[in-house]
Amino acid sequence: MKFPEHGRDTGNILQDLAARKQQDVDWQSGRAFAYVYDAGPEAMQLLKDSFTLFMTENGLDPTTFPSAMELEKDVMSMAIDLVGGGAEAEGSFTSGGTESLLLSVKTARDYCRTHKPHIKQPELLLPETAHASFFKACAYFDIKPVVAPVNPHTFRADPAAMAERVTENTIMMVASAPSYAHGAVDPIEELGQIALEHELFFHVDCCVGGMYLPFARQLGYRIPRFDLSVPGVTQLSMDFHKWGYAAKGASAIIYKNGAEMRRHQYFAWSGWTGYSVINPTIMSTKSAGPVAACWAILQYMGREGYLDLVECTQSASAKIRAAITEIPQLYLLGEPRTNLFSFASDEVDVFKLAAKMKERGWYIQPQFGFGPSPANIHLSVGAGNATHTDAFIADLRATVAEMAAKAAGPSLQALPEDIHLALKENSPRLLEELSQLIAGNDGDIAGRMDYINNLLNLMPPPVRDGLLSEFVNGLYSKASA
Ligand SMILES: Cc1ncc(COP(=O)(O)O)c(C=O)c1O
Repeated sequence: MKFPEHGRDTGNILQDLAARKQQDVDWQSGRAFAYVYDAGPEAMQLLKDSFTLFMTENGLDPTTFPSAMELEKDVMSMAIDLVGGGAEAEGSFTSGGTESLLLSVKTARDYCRTHKPHIKQPELLLPETAHASFFKACAYFDIKPVVAPVNPHTFRADPAAMAERVTENTIMMVASAPSYAHGAVDPIEELGQIALEHELFFHVDCCVGGMYLPFARQLGYRIPRFDLSVPGVTQLSMDFHKWGYAAKGASAIIYKNGAEMRRHQYFAWSGWTGYSVINPTIMSTKSAGPVAACWAILQYMGREGYLDLVECTQSASAKIRAAITEIPQLYLLGEPRTNLFSFASDEVDVFKLAAKMKERGWYIQPQFGFGPSPANIHLSVGAGNATHTDAFIADLRATVAEMAAKAAGPSLQALPEDIHLALKENSPRLLEELSQLIAGNDGDIAGRMDYINNLLNLMPPPVRDGLLSEFVNGLYSKASA
């Protein structure tokens, strides 16, 4: 699109924008089991109103916009209260889980630079189920990730495997409550003891669980202790824009010992010709919209509202899991107890299943095989999905039955022999072939996704990462129509 010579009228612009959503997943009808968190029309309207009320206020300068700072302080103290932070806990409101994790790792690194100067090559110790953003943090901040295997049946971190990998360079240990892929809550209490013994920072990644597990525990679901009250846990991330049903751009990083830790997160610079930059988080200029909308939804829901939402999604999840267990070709992975879980199959191709469910209007999320986890489908069950569980189960059952009846076997059987060979040899020709395959039909890859996913699934992760980066890079290069 060329830069417009003349302005357009607002109605026309908004129509144009609305029309652009047509290719997106239809989340409004509760058929997307990932990415979207929808607590209903009244909550959505409140988010929009509160967001726009503060859209233009700038969180960059708390002395000019004290309102943004006060909203953040309120949100942070509500969060600290929820996850057992105690009187000394402090943190920051961030733009999302990834920013919270980045900051936590940077803070640990910078603290150690000051207080453990013998560490020249810092290491982050994490189970193989830890979120990819920790690896991003390692890449950004020049830290070595040290990965420990998890229990292959429960997908929970293995304390012995973690303890074995502690070295004199370890700056922090990581665990999830729960992990995204399988919804597994790591044994935080046992890991906390290891952290204490070795005097390590210990980050519990509650990005997806912080606004869920406290309520699930209160409702009596069997969830082990996981929060900042567990001895040894030093920091915790939690996202409001997931099961807090806030507008996107809302997360928190919290340090149990806020006074000692949070200052290492800050960046300050006055050695230039402009205004003094004192940034608690990664962004500098930032809209106060997300924090205002977050404040509003927490006030709107209250504990009671979230308890209702969690009860509703726990029931829906249990129903879907029971149905999956009854479908002979599918099996659940691990021992999920919340609204995040995944399933696999030895008989039907799960990537094809995702593609066929898409034809029926459902978005379910394919995950590649990695370590002990086979290729699988992930579901995040939200309030917006809950009223559609019967229709979902019926379609899932029918699709699997249809696929099983065809007995097509994994679609990779159909691959040309030379591609099999190229995969084995990891040859450059394969990358070329795949790039062409993916890019070849002008972004219209929907019809080939199962085939492409099967190929990607067979590749070593670094090869697939390179290829996917190239692919996405290509997507962003193409001008929109
Ligand atoms: C456990 C966990 N950590 C971190 C993240 C990253 O969060 P975001 O996508 O908000 O950056 C996610 C996202 O789903 C997550 O589930």
